[in-house]
Amino acid sequence: MSKPLFKQEHKEEVSNKSDNPVFSGVVDALFSRRRFLQLGAVMGTAVAFPSLLRTPAAQAVEIALSRPSTLGFTSIAVSTDDTVRVPDGYIARPFYRWGDATGMKDNLPEFKKDGSNTTDEQAAQAGMHHDGMAWFSLPQGGDSPSHGLLAMNHEYVDNGLLFKDGDANWNLDKARKAQNAMGVSVIEVKKEPDGWTVVRPSQYARRITVNTPMSVTGPAKGNELLKTAADPAGATILGTMQNCANGHTPWGTYLTCEENWSDIFVKKAAPNALEKRYGISDSDESYRWSEVDPRFNVDATPNEPNRFGWVVEIDPFNPASTPRKHTALGRFKHEGAAITLTADKRVVAYMGDDQKFEYIYKFVSDKTWAADNREAAMDLLSSGTLYVAKFNDDGTGVWLPLVFGQSGLDASNGFASQGDLLIKTRLAADVVGATKMDRPEWIAVDPHAAGSVYCTLTNNSDRGKEGKAPVDAANPRANNVYGHIMHWQEQGDDPASTHFAWDILVMGGKPDASDEAAKGSMNGAEFGSADGLSFDPRGVLWIQTDVSSSTINKKAYEGMGNNQMLATVPGSNEFRRFLTGPRGCEITGIAFTPDNRTLFINIQHPGEPGDDISDPANPNAVSRWPDGETSGRPRSSTVVIVKADGGIIGS
Ligand code: FEO
Ligand code: CA
Ligand code: CA
Repeated sequence: MSKPLFKQEHKEEVSNKSDNPVFSGVVDALFSRRRFLQLGAVMGTAVAFPSLLRTPAAQAVEIALSRPSTLGFTSIAVSTDDTVRVPDGYIARPFYRWGDATGMKDNLPEFKKDGSNTTDEQAAQAGMHHDGMAWFSLPQGGDSPSHGLLAMNHEYVDNGLLFKDGDANWNLDKARKAQNAMGVSVIEVKKEPDGWTVVRPSQYARRITVNTPMSVTGPAKGNELLKTAADPAGATILGTMQNCANGHTPWGTYLTCEENWSDIFVKKAAPNALEKRYGISDSDESYRWSEVDPRFNVDATPNEPNRFGWVVEIDPFNPASTPRKHTALGRFKHEGAAITLTADKRVVAYMGDDQKFEYIYKFVSDKTWAADNREAAMDLLSSGTLYVAKFNDDGTGVWLPLVFGQSGLDASNGFASQGDLLIKTRLAADVVGATKMDRPEWIAVDPHAAGSVYCTLTNNSDRGKEGKAPVDAANPRANNVYGHIMHWQEQGDDPASTHFAWDILVMGGKPDASDEAAKGSMNGAEFGSADGLSFDPRGVLWIQTDVSSSTINKKAYEGMGNNQMLATVPGSNEFRRFLTGPRGCEITGIAFTPDNRTLFINIQHPGEPGDDISDPANPNAVSRWPDGETSGRPRSSTVVIVKADGGIIGS
């Protein structure tokens, strides 16, 4: 989401008050630019080799899909139109909009454009606010580019669109409908002669909501802080929510990541240190679940917040499977989980904690992946080592282990065990001295260069303000309204290494700005507030922006148009604009088919008003996308993009 919608004060708030060491001296942006040149020279040479992440069949496709030296489309202009624009020769079509039937057998409710679908109907329809998304070829383990599953997140809800009368006459049934509009969809999709279609009914179709039972794995399973009256064992949690970005594993599972979950909870009494560090407060201006569902009233159910903030693994091929919350990957406001493998096939997950001055994390599994044992692979994210990143001002960096008993992570700092530490991940990262970043969003691992990783730092208008962390080499701009994209190279090209070298891929902004604070370092299309980030199978890097609706095309973003999607070949520093979205949306979610010929993206919150919940009496004041109806509602939607000639996207 562009901001904690309706609760802007939360994301504006900084919960990291830790006294972490900052760099010895203030290093100006020029230093970082120099780092770019040094590593950029190395990274500019593309080396094509098969990604370890793919099945053998998909690897063969990737060998054929080596990285191009340049992009093959003409950059499009910025746009303020209420539509999706793509370059000439491409076709973009909305596909699986909020309220469209998911495809469960005998349960295909039609969308009602006045917001009057029932609570049960919403549980069988696309949720609101599509976000992260992944492609899985059918059958499982294959590499079909024309038949597969899409798993995708539904991040949050807008009561003004979800209900005919908004949040008037609030009751438990309305809260349940909202809970059914969050979570995850799994849909079956197929390329037919006349284009892509959602298969309905489908044996795979599934909605996962805020009330779907999930199991707990890892060191925090059964921890005192996870126990509730409803779950005295601390091992079974109802649901997932605020599902932002994602990941997917080589064994064909989907990872959904819980981001702004603390916005749901309300505590009227003063929050304790743990609650404070995660942003639990007495305010709930929008969701209102705590008024009717005691699970979200922290005064009544004090441990329930500890059961959120995790990465959840879902088997999209088995709709009867129980999703699992993996505590070994830490608890924070998870943006996404980018997965790669070491040479010996341990699993590595890179993860951002998206709030101002929060951290970048990495998990390395204890065990190794064997392609012929999917059942064993399901346990790989249950045990391993969690690290947090420290970016030194000389361009080197260290992954600091968060292990109970090491580096002060013991009773002297309030940690009772590894499970306890993981529930308090942010506090543990404070103790070891991690680097406070400018809102880490998506992370992408280069499939054509081992150990090469990128992360969007979307923006941080508080950087350098009095009483807040000063600029440093890795976050070099005060009042960083345009954000930047970080890159690091793991030592020895080994994703499990505890050391890395870093540089900055690009500073957001306008390349022709005279003011250094507004100057973008890119050649070509300008952009800011990068959020979504993903490589396609060829090794082209795709960037999606999430400028907040209060700022789109105004203030620092004047003239920069609606949110957009761009592409670059790493090392080129050339950025081309591939797509512009409708009004009031952010662009998010990226999934390519293995042949690089179909691209799915998500348009989230089209029509979002600048600073408030949508008005149910006038829901399409900002946007009528995608249906274009005067009396309808704007709808988040997946968009399927192909080349008219069937060619490779971006070529
Ligand atoms: Fe849900 Fe940080 O974006
Ligand atoms: Ca964002
Ligand atoms: Ca995001």
